[in-house]
Parts: sequence; C-alpha cells; structure tokens
Amino acid sequence: MPKYTVPDFAAMQGKQKIVMLTAYDYAGAVMAETAGVDVILVGDSLGMVVLGYESTVFVTMQDMIHHTRAVKRGAKETFVVVDLPFGTFQTGLTDALRNAVHLIRETGADAVKIEGGEEVTEIIRHLSRSGIPVVAHVGLTPQTAVNLGGFKVQGKTVQDAQQIMQDAQAVADAGAFMVVLEAIPAPLAQRITERLKVPTIGIGAGPHTDGQVLVYHDLLGLFDRFTPKFVKQYAQMAKLGTEAIQNYVTEVKAGVFPAPEHSFSMKEEVLSRLY
Ligand code: KIV
Repeated sequence: MPKYTVPDFAAMQGKQKIVMLTAYDYAGAVMAETAGVDVILVGDSLGMVVLGYESTVFVTMQDMIHHTRAVKRGAKETFVVVDLPFGTFQTGLTDALRNAVHLIRETGADAVKIEGGEEVTEIIRHLSRSGIPVVAHVGLTPQTAVNLGGFKVQGKTVQDAQQIMQDAQAVADAGAFMVVLEAIPAPLAQRITERLKVPTIGIGAGPHTDGQVLVYHDLLGLFDRFTPKFVKQYAQMAKLGTEAIQNYVTEVKAGVFPAPEHSFSMKEEVLSRLY
C-alpha cells in the first residue's frame, strides 16, 4: 500500500473512515503500520504515557524528535504527524515556523499538529503557506487543559459549543488539512463534521467524525493511571505484562528459568581443557 498524501485524506472524507493512532517508538510503529492504521500521530501525550509527567506541557522538541525518529524507522509507509509541543509556537510566527521546519527536517514527519482554535489561526496560515501540512486540534486541548477546567468534556453550553464550532471553522479556513476534535458531545462533532470541508478526526467526539484517533497506551490498556470514558481498551496489556513479569520473578527466584532450552551448551572436551 503506497503511503498516503494530504489529498488522499480529503478524498477519503465521507467515503471511508480515517484511522489514526498514536505511537511513540519503533515497536509500536511497526504494530500500527502492520495493523493497517492510516495515520500515526506522535502525540505529546508521550509526556504522560511514556515519560510519566503529570502534563504534556513538559514535553520538549528534543523529546518529540527522539520519539518521532524511532516511529519513522518502524513505519516507513505510513503518514506520520508530529505534535508541536507546548511553548514552541505561541511565541510568534517566526518561532513557530522555525520549530515546525526543524521537527519535519529532523524526523521526516509528514505534518505537524497544533493545539488551539481561533487564537492559532495566524500560525496555521503561516505554516500552511510555507508548505507545511498542518493538523489542527480543538475542543479539549491537553496543553491548555488547566484553562479548560482539567481533562473534561468541552462544549456543553451554547456559548462553549459555539466557540468550538467557530474554532474548527477558523482553523480549517486558515489551512489545516485535518481537524482533531477532542472530548466534545457527539452531536456537536457531527455538526462540525457536516460543515467542514476538511476531515475531522474524533477522540471522545462520537461516531460521526470522518475518522478516529486513540492513544496507543489507552487502546492496549498499557496506561492505567486513568482511563477516560471515551477510551475502548482492546487489550489489558498492563495486567498481562505485570503477570508475565511476576512469573519471571518467581521462576528466577525458584531457579526454574533459564531452563536447558534457554542455555548454551559446550563440548565436554573443551570444558575439560579449561581446568
Ligand atoms: O497528544 C496526543 O496524543 C493527542 C491525541 C490525544 C489527539 O493530541
């Protein structure tokens, strides 16, 4: 399957669902690509699920570069989007462009993602006009979750819902080729999806968006500090992994592992000459 490009996603809108998944390392990227994921997002959620931070605001450019390079080595045929971390685009158009170019050049990612609505439209316009494909992200934006009352569903009041609709329209008009809608009511996501000319990708936004995205660790049940309502765990890997490690601990303590089949033998004549 040849790698998708930006126009392919526009062509998929309304015809087939777009499947996005986050990945942060080589092994995860290989699994995502082999499983048929359309877009891999190297999300700054890596700060929480991989690096153990309380928030994504601590993620640096260097973190994103390190992880995106590993993902690219594992998923050579998949479209890869990389998050612009907190603080790398809010300081002005020049910084935003410099950082986006740096991320793309250093990693080989195909597009960048920026969190925010109307307040980031100038940045999105500047990057898109400079030739950088941009994915926008509105609704619950984890980098600014503190301002939104925490990791909570957004757009429940008329005013908030209207603001999110305006945000989605504004980022699309500014040149974003795809818009992530996070943690908003399904009917609101449907309304936005019907209006936008670019595909919407939902996470906690119901079934009517043009595609879906999940965090790798949530899907696999690898991150059990908290599980948002919108997550479906397709496996319980944290439980499985802990059980496997417990078995390893028990077997090493008991002298059961390694067994003969895990050990290398030596010819008796070689061994006898050692003494
Ligand atoms: O960082 C991330 O993983 C994201 C997704 C939740 C969309 O932004």
